[in-house]
Amino acid sequence: MAKTYDYLFKLLLIGDSGVGKTCLLFRFSEDAFNTTFISTIGKNIRTNIWDTAGQERFRTITTAYYRGAMGIMLVYDITNEKSFDNIKNWIRNIEEHASSDVERMILGNKCDMNDKRQVSKERGEKLAIDYGIKFLETSAKSGINVEENDNNAPGSGGPVKITENRPKKSFFRCLLL
Ligand code: GTP
Ligand code: MG
Repeated sequence: MAKTYDYLFKLLLIGDSGVGKTCLLFRFSEDAFNTTFISTIGKNIRTNIWDTAGQERFRTITTAYYRGAMGIMLVYDITNEKSFDNIKNWIRNIEEHASSDVERMILGNKCDMNDKRQVSKERGEKLAIDYGIKFLETSAKSGINVEENDNNAPGSGGPVKITENRPKKSFFRCLLL
């Protein structure tokens, strides 16, 4: 098969069962790979996102699984306190098994369900700050995401931010170097 990309990124989605990892993956793959996405930085980038099962019985995420990962998205459900508490355990797991320079990001998913919210955005932000990790609230259902942040344009020496021009639609606009 011909190589059709200039860069290959491996990203992992982890978090408790039911937080919405698989839905986020679908949302991402639906929105993210379009020509705008590619032309923004003039390179063809392929992203492999590995979805995991959050169920307790599948929780032996090992070094082999983390190998080569450039980014890990830690997902909790804003309507589920326990999934938020468990982020700390997932982070511990990453610290044990993943490479120490892996880029991490916490996603508080299901932010479309504000009426059932158990975890405030502030708590999510604080947790992320405590660990020095980026944070976003997302909704795989509605596609809610963050506004663009242009202060890390390619070539500026900072992380490459890959953005696309439909800010309402993609949940994850930052690829990690
Ligand atoms: P495991 O595969 O068991 O680890 O779970 P998962 O994290 O992959 O969860 P999944 O994506 O299967 O979503 C679980 C449930 O949450 C489904 O019923 C989804 O429809 C629902 N869901 C996922 N994301 C959202 C969201 O952003 N908003 C709302 N309202 N529901 C969501
Ligand atoms: Mg799943």
